[in-house]
Amino acid sequence: MGEPIELNKREAWAVQCMDRQLVVLDDLASRASDTRAWLALERQAGSYARHLGTWLAKDTIFPAARDRMRQHQADLAGYAQRARDEVAGVDPDAREAARATLGIRLAVIGKGGAGKTVTSSTLARLLARNGRKVFACDLDVNPGLAISLGLPATEGGLPPGAIEQHPGSIYGWQLTGDMTPIQVVEKFASVAPDGVRFLGLGKIGPSSEGAGTDKSAAKQSVAALVHLLLGIGEPDWDVIADLEAGPTTPFERYHAFSEDVIVVFGPAWRSAMTARRLLPMVEDRRTILLANRFRDEPDHPGLAARFRIPFDPELAEAERQGLAPLDACPDSPAIVALSRLADLFTSAAREAAPDDNQEVPV
Ligand SMILES: Nc1ncnc2c1ncn2[C@@H]1O[C@H](COP(=O)(O)OP(=O)(O)OP(=O)(O)O)[C@@H](O)[C@H]1O
Ligand SMILES: [Mg+2]
Repeated sequence: MGEPIELNKREAWAVQCMDRQLVVLDDLASRASDTRAWLALERQAGSYARHLGTWLAKDTIFPAARDRMRQHQADLAGYAQRARDEVAGVDPDAREAARATLGIRLAVIGKGGAGKTVTSSTLARLLARNGRKVFACDLDVNPGLAISLGLPATEGGLPPGAIEQHPGSIYGWQLTGDMTPIQVVEKFASVAPDGVRFLGLGKIGPSSEGAGTDKSAAKQSVAALVHLLLGIGEPDWDVIADLEAGPTTPFERYHAFSEDVIVVFGPAWRSAMTARRLLPMVEDRRTILLANRFRDEPDHPGLAARFRIPFDPELAEAERQGLAPLDACPDSPAIVALSRLADLFTSAAREAAPDDNQEVPV
């Protein structure tokens, strides 16, 4: 045995994150009683492993914690293997049917104004109406998801007791350690219509330095929520996050938790440009290209939408009035299209659905 290695504060934080991941996995394993629950454990271990992969990719990341990270990689593989062993005897068709019922992990991205929020909120509520447990999370510093869900504008931030300072964490804050992420959701999320649970970045006031908004408050909340999202392994929860416009937040991997990504774009050229820039960042996810707000404009070259939501004046009017579109115009063409999108996510065949998006770099 060599000398114990000194960890700096960033490395100590990374080790704490890994320890907390094991707590989440142990919790899931201790409650796993059916095929679906084991598949959820396998998925969660895989999700953490993918995230760990971004740390392992560069030797310069947490150098003194590399051994611990490699050990963690092996631990995660062990959980995934244990889950696979548990379901090894299950008929493959039954196993895949169980997999298709796992809760959704969806990030919605795209250019500003493309329709991310209306897509996120309406999907969340339609899924909840189907009897599913849904957690909708607004990761946009310009909040909008609460209103679109039908909640008052002000709600949604994590209370101070749910986040704590850690000198090594990104932006200096993290979730408190005495609750698992799903317990945080159950305890602190606002309840929107149809029972959707909602959290956002909370109130972000003006900067104490006089110009702009209080960036550190926003970053505290973002750091906590990104980890919250990554730590929800429950098989029976759908998780939907509405990301801030453009490529910056996907580049920062706010969508780390996701298995599915919707890239929304509108008829404007620049909206398509953003979609093209986003696609390579999410190519390891199941991706749906969603064309929104088209009237009779031509399609963008090389961006073949898998789904379309038409331009819909009723929806625009609902939003203008600050109403949830699902309440204000439930039968409008855009909401009808969004219902079909919700069906896609709940269809038993969705794992097998071919990815027929096309992407042509321009
Ligand atoms: N299919 C549609 N038909 C008509 N109006 C629409 C449609 N989809 C969205 N809109 C309107 O476009 C505006 C932007 O939509 P939304 O807020 O969902 O976009 P976003 O991508 O979340 O924008 P931001 O980047 O600002 O958060 C809203 O006023 C909304 O009502
Ligand atoms: Mg929005």
